[in-house]
Amino acid sequence: MDKFVVRGGNPLLGTIKVSGAKNSALPCMAAAILTEEEVILENIPQVRDIETERRLLESMGAEVQLGYGRAQHRTHIQCAVLSDPVAKYEIVKTMRASSLVLGPLIARTGMARVAMPGGCAIGGRPIDLHLKALEAMGAVITQDHGYLEAKTDRLRGAHIVFDKITVTGTEDILMAAVLAEGETVLENCAREPEVTDLAALLIAMGAQITGAGTSTIKVRGVSKLHGARHKINPDRIEAGTFLIAGAITGGDLNIDSCDPTHLGALIAKLEQCGVRIDVAKDHIRVRSGGELKAADISTEEYPGFPTDMQAQYMALATQTAGTTTVTENIFENRFMHVQELNRMGANISVQGRTATIRGGTPLQSAAVMCSDLRASASLVLAALVAEGETILDRVYHVDRGYERLEEKLRGVGAQIRRMGDVFGKK
Ligand code: UD1
Repeated sequence: MDKFVVRGGNPLLGTIKVSGAKNSALPCMAAAILTEEEVILENIPQVRDIETERRLLESMGAEVQLGYGRAQHRTHIQCAVLSDPVAKYEIVKTMRASSLVLGPLIARTGMARVAMPGGCAIGGRPIDLHLKALEAMGAVITQDHGYLEAKTDRLRGAHIVFDKITVTGTEDILMAAVLAEGETVLENCAREPEVTDLAALLIAMGAQITGAGTSTIKVRGVSKLHGARHKINPDRIEAGTFLIAGAITGGDLNIDSCDPTHLGALIAKLEQCGVRIDVAKDHIRVRSGGELKAADISTEEYPGFPTDMQAQYMALATQTAGTTTVTENIFENRFMHVQELNRMGANISVQGRTATIRGGTPLQSAAVMCSDLRASASLVLAALVAEGETILDRVYHVDRGYERLEEKLRGVGAQIRRMGDVFGKK
């Protein structure tokens, strides 16, 4: 297993480029299931979850070509024949977003078999709301040896009110609705930019959708969709991670190829901390020099403060003057980074869904363990300001969602390198 070795202390200076959004790319790749024709996606990030989704689609009979480098991260997907509409456990267990194929598979083929997602490092993460909505649209869902089996002659439009706001649930049911008979109204939808990005692709494929990006989405089903070409949004969580990297190291960083309009809640919070931020159309300059102040956060659905930035923000909070309160409202059990940050000298206590960070403590290097994607990013950020050489183990969690993180950070002055496990142990 690879490790990162990080020597802290350098302010990050220069320009760092943001990749395409993993969380947009995953549903957009699943949307290719909805047509026999070719779907071309640009700005696909080169991360492990995308590789997993490619394997998933290929295992069902799709042809997928992932082009990187000069091919501008372009992906061609063609699901001419879906010989095996099954999402196998071996793949689903490594990526929970695999449940995104459920809606499109049943819409296209009238049947889907998807391994039930197991537990997850950041809480239970059930998919009951996806299933309830599909049942309301006429799917019959049964459980069979760890698999969910969904069948229907044809899905029909329905009025669905999500009990809770769910991002992939909204995306999954949106993909089911575009080929359903009649009109579907989805209420209490997620308003995340990733939902809007998916809707833009579906519309380019011939779907009739209004209201994406608001809490009510209306879909008029069509009998067939066609191929399309679509460019994936920039990754707002990667951009946000770089914003904090600039702020925590006292750097001066230009974050290029991002969409600042997707980062409102984070930018407002960083400004409250005393970080200087200049926003242009597709880049952000972040500067920090003097002492930063504590500012509390509470995670919420978009456009609130994203849960996917909570861990990284907590690394910054260890360095601001005063006490910060971080409340996690979206997921239970999303404080796995706390223990590791404390091992590096932070002073954080957790009670239920709230963490209290007594800031301004100098961090020291340590051997730390990555536990999930964003927790790992938080440890990298802490390591960038820690005294000495921090070794981060299990960086495959980072590779799930950050494209060449260590190379990008090295390009702006960080001392970070990847080290393969010399013993090759798993
Ligand atoms: C997506 C993102 C993830 C992000 C999260 C919240 C992708 C691939 N992943 O995850 O990075 O952290 O949104 O912004 O886009 N819930 C239920 N029943 C369901 C579905 C969800 O109870 O059927 C609950 C979850 O347990 C959680 C909350 O709803 O407490 C939100 O989850 P959801 O928005 O579905 O997260 P994901 O879509 O899995």
